[in-house]
Amino acid sequence: MSFPNQRKRINRASSAVRNLVAETALHPHDFIAPLFIEDGEGIKSEIPSMPGYFRYSLDTVMGEVEELVAVGIQSVLLFVKEGDDKKDNTGAYASNPEGLMQRSIRAIKAKFPDLLVMTDVALDPYSSYGHDGIVDVEKGEIVNDETVEALVKMALSHVEAGADWVAPSDMMDGRIGALRQAFNEHGYTHKGILAYSAKYASALYGPFRDALDSAPGFGDKKTYQMDPRNRKEGLDEAYLDESEGADMLMVKPGSFYLDVVRDMSEASNLPVAVYQVSGEYAMIKAAAEKGWLNEHDIMLESLIAFKRAGAKVILTYFAKEASKHLIKNYPNS
Ligand code: PBG
Repeated sequence: MSFPNQRKRINRASSAVRNLVAETALHPHDFIAPLFIEDGEGIKSEIPSMPGYFRYSLDTVMGEVEELVAVGIQSVLLFVKEGDDKKDNTGAYASNPEGLMQRSIRAIKAKFPDLLVMTDVALDPYSSYGHDGIVDVEKGEIVNDETVEALVKMALSHVEAGADWVAPSDMMDGRIGALRQAFNEHGYTHKGILAYSAKYASALYGPFRDALDSAPGFGDKKTYQMDPRNRKEGLDEAYLDESEGADMLMVKPGSFYLDVVRDMSEASNLPVAVYQVSGEYAMIKAAAEKGWLNEHDIMLESLIAFKRAGAKVILTYFAKEASKHLIKNYPNS
């Protein structure tokens, strides 16, 4: 009888040895927690297509931030839902210093000065057409360069309010370079840019658009977000963003685009972030609600897949839940 001289099961034999040889690990410091904020007081309203995830008013969001910090999370990404009266075609309200975003940044930084506060930069919450940019109504087109100008104003108002990083999610050409230049010219030399580099035109953003009431009023976002059929184009976008001055690159969505995460993490020396988007969260929640999948296990498996693919940073609606598990099981890590 012949025996295998390589017994692969030895390294899997106990939890101790599995932990010893594990190639990747999750840590609460890896996570950026997205937060949805709306105007008003005392609000904590569950997003129907994102069970267990809420939109807060500025007073109630403070308690949520406190919980995030308590489980070791050090970064949040802010999104706001503005009323229809704040929306037009130019996104003018996006840079208003008294806007909900700017007020939220000031309030959160005042209470949590060490927390990294990042902000979404795109016009969709302020656009009467629900698009990330300004619409040329006659042509039915999203105009690039005018949009970039509006995004620069918007981002400047965020950093002026105290945001540490901006995260442009709009996919207009040249916006990273324009933001970097504007930050340099205005003395914001310590502000970070998390570039949504490879952001695909995905059906997985549906629940998010419910959360912010920001679905496009006409057409789709395929003339600016990337075609899911393309892989190399993701690298093309990443090289551009890096050369224009990005500090971190992002792939979005996550699970369906792990090949792009792998490519980008090998091609760039910048940290790569991945966004596990609302639809990914919704799919896991829905299957768990039906009793078809174990939510806790799937959550951790989905997150570790991002690390294995090469991501350093993970934006996820599971940030708090996963961190709770991690600090309970690895309290001193
Ligand atoms: C807005 C924006 C979107 C998301 C992040 N920023 C939606 C979109 O592009 O339509 C999606 C996040 C998610 O689905 O969790 N530009």
